[in-house]
Amino acid sequence: MEAGFELGFASLSNEVRDRSLPVEGTLPDWLDGALVRNGPATFEAGGERVHHWFDGLAMLHRFAFDGRGDTVSYTNRSLRSETYRRAMATGEISGQFATGGGYLRRVRQLLFGDPTDNCNVHVARVDGTLVAMTEVPRYVACDPDTLETRGEFAFADALTGHVNCAHVLPDPHRGETVGLLTTFGRPSEHTFYRLPDGSRSRERIGSVATESPAYLHSFALTERFVVLTEHPFVTTPASFLLPGRESFVDHYEWKPERGTRFHVLDRETGERVATAVTDPWFVFHHVNAFEADGELVVDLVAYPNADVVDGLYLSEASDWFEHGSDGHLRRFRVQIDGQAVASETLYGGCELPRIAREDRTREYRYVYTQGAAEPDGNHVAKVDVTTGESDRWEESGLFAEEPVFVRAPDAERPSDEGCVLVTALNTDEGRTDLLVLDGETLDERARAPLPHAVPFGFHGRYFEEW
Ligand SMILES: [Fe+2]
Repeated sequence: MEAGFELGFASLSNEVRDRSLPVEGTLPDWLDGALVRNGPATFEAGGERVHHWFDGLAMLHRFAFDGRGDTVSYTNRSLRSETYRRAMATGEISGQFATGGGYLRRVRQLLFGDPTDNCNVHVARVDGTLVAMTEVPRYVACDPDTLETRGEFAFADALTGHVNCAHVLPDPHRGETVGLLTTFGRPSEHTFYRLPDGSRSRERIGSVATESPAYLHSFALTERFVVLTEHPFVTTPASFLLPGRESFVDHYEWKPERGTRFHVLDRETGERVATAVTDPWFVFHHVNAFEADGELVVDLVAYPNADVVDGLYLSEASDWFEHGSDGHLRRFRVQIDGQAVASETLYGGCELPRIAREDRTREYRYVYTQGAAEPDGNHVAKVDVTTGESDRWEESGLFAEEPVFVRAPDAERPSDEGCVLVTALNTDEGRTDLLVLDGETLDERARAPLPHAVPFGFHGRYFEEW
């Protein structure tokens, strides 16, 4: 293996617990919570390699700050899911997004019974429990300090689905988290739910029915509305029952003639108040949304089509790094009582966008995002969505992951006072570094080298407690 970005797709089995990391620079003394990240870390079992980045077995990482600016303590642990234990015992990784029939089997099993549980996409706090999540509705509970796997997490309600949106949106202004499930059927339904803080009982908000359910990775939320962005990467449930297609994503097709539709539902009543159609594009990640002057403003990272899904096959990774990303930060304005949509591009070549937690559903100013990969590194960008101006941090040989902005405790919305926590693969040193960047300038404030290289991961959350 070459000592470049390929290291980001090499398996990591080393685990450490409460390792005090050496710190160069100065940590903010107000930072007293923990960043918990999730992502794939084991790409082989029994000598067989998975095909797609999304298919590696999950590992959690925890970076805990002491509130004095002195230390950061690091713990990492592979999720001991049933999928993981079976892979270690049998040498086969099953139940995946694009590797063999596993993920497909999951969906088939979901239609008739028993999904598997490699929860490698995101984490959430549900009723005081740390929960790992993926794109089927099976959840694994973990100890928030040791990251040890506690076992299956169960909600205390009867909501079901076949596909789970791994991005849930905690709304700090409403004391609830909003999520999304897709149920295959005739018709299929995309169903939004709310989960009140401190509860394990989800409540149905409303649904969008369709004969051709889309692959939905995230959605948008405003104070009054929830927005389902239905891009034309769609399937039909019957397709899953037919032989001949090997993986889950093989069952989805790009149908640009459908366009991309915004379905706007009232958060209280679940009623659909608008559907607006625009040009066809694909989206993994929404950034934020809010209401302004009779319009919904929806910011997201759009791709011209769904080719990005194929581009994330491990065999295609070098192309991806050489050609950069087609993901563009775009702002859409949707008339709440009409069908008009306007858009503008705010930043080109980015993914994994983040905002301050308190800015969600509100008019805001700053996005922090991972810049498109290039062969010798990428960058972290900060975009002022009110002016289109941007700043960047970069260093040759470093590949930054998702930048998580934490606003300083005394700063008010939409201030950029705070810090950006971002892990970066340091290919020159053969390890990953935790970087603490200044939220205003993106200058590096501190760097804490990890004892190993961490494969490229997906998402994390900063928890003030834990
Ligand atoms: Fe995601």
